[in-house]
Amino acid sequence: MSKESVVRGVPGVRRAHDAPPILDVELITLFPDIFDSFLRTSLLGKAVEAGIVRITRTNPRDFARGRHRQVDDSCYGGGPGMVLRPEPLAAAIETVQGERGRAHRVLLAPSGRLFDQATAFAFARRGRLMLICGRYEGVDERIADLFADDIVSIGDYVLAGGELAAAVIIEAVARLVPGVLGCEASTVDESFSAGRLEYPQWTRPPEFLGRSVPEVLRSGNHAEVATWRRLESLRRTVARRPDLLLRCPLSEDEQALLEGRKPKRRRKPSGPDGPDGPR
Ligand code: ADE
Repeated sequence: MSKESVVRGVPGVRRAHDAPPILDVELITLFPDIFDSFLRTSLLGKAVEAGIVRITRTNPRDFARGRHRQVDDSCYGGGPGMVLRPEPLAAAIETVQGERGRAHRVLLAPSGRLFDQATAFAFARRGRLMLICGRYEGVDERIADLFADDIVSIGDYVLAGGELAAAVIIEAVARLVPGVLGCEASTVDESFSAGRLEYPQWTRPPEFLGRSVPEVLRSGNHAEVATWRRLESLRRTVARRPDLLLRCPLSEDEQALLEGRKPKRRRKPSGPDGPDGPR
């Protein structure tokens, strides 16, 4: 029988020492060292150490031919900058898959669809990901055509390469994996999961530089705290991210809360959980 350990921070969750990782990420990058301290630090570092998350780095330069192992070349049609040649990338991708199996292949590029919390959840469910980092002016389009299942950008700005984007994605996805965050509830009750920004939070001391923690949060009245947080979350969303409301419009209850009205009483449905159903 294999040895087991308790997964840090998750009561009751036990994990065999030789269990496969829950999140397995293949990084294809010309600059693997960029990730060194990132992968050793904080909760992600502990998850990597515990084998819950596995990150394997592969450098396409190791698959480049010639004395100089050149991985880039000038762009057909002219234009500034260099483009990553397809052969070293393709060889790296195929070698990794040959050795460790197929993964969901994500090319990181500013021209991709925007990464968001829903995509983080979807990637966490996949379990095995390959993040392909571009560099220079871009990647030969045949890599996108032939090898990418998904093309993702982390924001409407251009980075020098996909490495920092990959780090962002790894962190957002890894913290959704059981045992990484150490507090499962925090991934549910937070920004974006319901299309709303998170409510503001305070800790000790109760007073700091003349600012005090809102009284309601110290009242011990859980129902009032919950309503207050909901209202603050809505106010923030309206003020800072009205675009979220286009995708996920205010409900009647939320509208009432914002306007300081009592929400309309909803009729309880009849049926098994309705007024006549079992309690
Ligand atoms: N590579 C360069 N810029 C990027 C971005 N915004 N997102 C993902 N990959 C990138």
